[in-house]
Amino acid sequence: MPVVAPSLLSADLFQLGNQIEQIAATTAEYLHVDIMDGHYVPNINFGDKIVGELRQHTELTLDCHIMVDQPEQVIHDVAVAGGDILTFHPETSDHPYRQIQEIHRLGKKAGIAFDPGTAISTYADLLPIVDQVLVMTVSPGFGGQKFLPEMLNKIAQVKRIQQANQYQFDIEVDGGINDQTGQQCVNAGANVLVAGSYVFKNGITPAIMALSQLQQE
Ligand code: DX5
Ligand code: ZN
Repeated sequence: MPVVAPSLLSADLFQLGNQIEQIAATTAEYLHVDIMDGHYVPNINFGDKIVGELRQHTELTLDCHIMVDQPEQVIHDVAVAGGDILTFHPETSDHPYRQIQEIHRLGKKAGIAFDPGTAISTYADLLPIVDQVLVMTVSPGFGGQKFLPEMLNKIAQVKRIQQANQYQFDIEVDGGINDQTGQQCVNAGANVLVAGSYVFKNGITPAIMALSQLQQE
């Protein structure tokens, strides 16, 4: 049974409290919080302040997806604010290995995110020390984009590496996930499904239920 991570990028910010209560009443375990700087990605949105506010109002795991250049300061601030999993794009940091160590030192889980144009082999040396590998299934920056089916092979590749080395990391997918693309990702080996527009535009509870019930076929 996959972990479902509703992406707040698609939430109704004027209903955020209600929507989080609805989510908390489902099987979803994470809240996915996208943090963007208008530089690494062309969009600007949440930061450590919202992570801190969320922390005061929910016990759901705060799965923070950090899409910023030179993420060192943001990583520190998001960790202190109460993020639980901090996933960043390794190409944004001059020293991604050190950054993962720093996230662990702050007592948090560390993830690395692979842009659709970044090969897994580029960052193979980080895989033994991460808690989560995020395979982006769209180019990062916006909700509501179309799933890239070419990424299914990449998910399967990460799964093979994980099994061959007995790594413990979770395999998360993000972008264009619905019940159908989610099924394909689960089949390929993903066990954490981020979904924004699918969850918030199709009725939060039934959409989360549909994703939670997916099983590897
Ligand atoms: C995109 C973000 C996603 C986004 C997904 O860069 O990282 O988390 O919210 O939205 P959907 O599920 O609508 O593609
Ligand atoms: Zn995301």
